[in-house]
Amino acid sequence: MRIDVVSIFPDYLAPLDLSLIGKARRDGLIELQVHDLRAFTHDRHRTVDDTPYGGGAGMVMKPEPWAEALDHVAAQTDSRPTLIIPGPGGQRLDQALARELARRDHLVFACGRYEGIDERVYDYAARDFDVRIVSLGDYVLNGGEVAALAVIEAVARLVPGVIGNADSLVEESHEDGLLEYPVYTKPEHWQGRSVPEVLLSGDHGRIAAWRHEQRLQRTAARRPDLLPRAAAAGAEQLAIAV
Ligand code: ADE
Repeated sequence: MRIDVVSIFPDYLAPLDLSLIGKARRDGLIELQVHDLRAFTHDRHRTVDDTPYGGGAGMVMKPEPWAEALDHVAAQTDSRPTLIIPGPGGQRLDQALARELARRDHLVFACGRYEGIDERVYDYAARDFDVRIVSLGDYVLNGGEVAALAVIEAVARLVPGVIGNADSLVEESHEDGLLEYPVYTKPEHWQGRSVPEVLLSGDHGRIAAWRHEQRLQRTAARRPDLLPRAAAAGAEQLAIAV
């Protein structure tokens, strides 16, 4: 998968050198480039923002550097990449969207700052990109970089080969609409708390049943809003939990 990120703070994306994504880059599974939006300005101050037409607070990102940056990225590919513009007004990121984006072979992230990017850029970009506005949730961040990091992490780990043990992708929270079961490791007794006896039993059937029950209880207690969707996926077990 190829990923390009355009930002006025390229250093914000430095964590993408670390951990599993850093390794996937070194292994050639993910080809990631970060571009400094200011490299596409031509004035002495490398200006990327200006005051809003119509008045109001804050600054708006100018269209020209964005158009040049996006042209630069588009010129490097024959395909039609997905352009993700993070913003609080976008489609909420969830596991289904991460899975959908993981099927694309080229993602481009345009990280806005200030009050946002001049609206005409969205339309301009649609010539070369499938434009998607994606939100992390109903709160406001200072810019798109943290959201780009979150989307990239959620997507990249679904790219085949990035996670060594593919089984760990199957059983995790949100894959089938239920939260994950609780996990324990050594020591068996710690600070007056013990590992549930069933996990020491060696009885794989009992362990699987206990874990499933824990997933149902957890989801009902912490995220009851998820239950209707999970029920559609596996109604008979859920009848027990609710
Ligand atoms: N930029 C500002 N707020 C955001 C949010 N909630 N999600 C994605 N990008 C954002």
